[in-house]
Amino acid sequence: MTELIDGKQIASEIRLSLKSKIEKLTSKPGLAFILIGNDPASHAYVKMKKKGCLETGIHSESFFLDQNITEQELLDLIQKLNKDPKIHGILVQQPLPNHISSKKVIETINAKKDVDGFHPINVGKALLGEEDGFFPCTPFGILRLLKAANIDLTGKHVVIIGRSNIVGKPLGAMLIQKKPFLNATVTYVHSKTKDLHMHCKMADVLVAAIGIAHFVKKSFLKPGAIVIDVGINRVTSEEKSRIVGDVDFDDVHDMCSYITPVPGGVGPMTIAMLLENTYKSFLMTCD
Ligand code: GUN
Repeated sequence: MTELIDGKQIASEIRLSLKSKIEKLTSKPGLAFILIGNDPASHAYVKMKKKGCLETGIHSESFFLDQNITEQELLDLIQKLNKDPKIHGILVQQPLPNHISSKKVIETINAKKDVDGFHPINVGKALLGEEDGFFPCTPFGILRLLKAANIDLTGKHVVIIGRSNIVGKPLGAMLIQKKPFLNATVTYVHSKTKDLHMHCKMADVLVAAIGIAHFVKKSFLKPGAIVIDVGINRVTSEEKSRIVGDVDFDDVHDMCSYITPVPGGVGPMTIAMLLENTYKSFLMTCD
């Protein structure tokens, strides 16, 4: 029997629990969103994140900037928000226009307000297994999904397809930590890997984070594998547009023990972890 890991439900419980903690506070955590340009997908993501803030009682401020804003103007805004005591988290929605350096932007955000977990200080802390920084939201959400489904990764072989700085790389670093429920054996595979299938077939847990619709088929899986689908791909067929994952759910689902659906799996957890990180940042500045 295949079990669905219901990210929507788990994320909703996390949000409710956050809401009740935030209700008891005398001042509120604050999150600033910066969005540059008109990319519809980025606007849709920010809208969902803002809705999450509203529902949990997090104060949010949004800065919708023109595509042609200079890098310096953006860096000045970030510096201003770094100093703003009402703001505990700063999120600059990626991707950025080509004339703006993503590295400069990420490094300008005060690491203590980097609730995305992208700043090198937070990446380093995640690698070292230190818990006083911010874990990047998607890998953190995957850990929490696995924990909620009571899946202990100790000794399990996790194969991660994809090596992005946002998901693949930090996820592997987090899963190998010497900590209860983690202690996984991790293999990364990517576009240059020889015999990618062969590696995937050895996975107890297969994580697909490559951004290619329906990339993972039955032939990739060992029977009983746990499948985590990070993909959010928009596909259009017969003039209808829908979101599908990196995993061909219909093809694989009867072959795995657990699987995350798309939508309703990892996606809602990413937002829940952003809200948790903002709450954590608020608590850290109150100390
Ligand atoms: N673009 C896609 N995912 C993310 C994310 O988690 N954070 C930011 N800042 N931009 C993104």
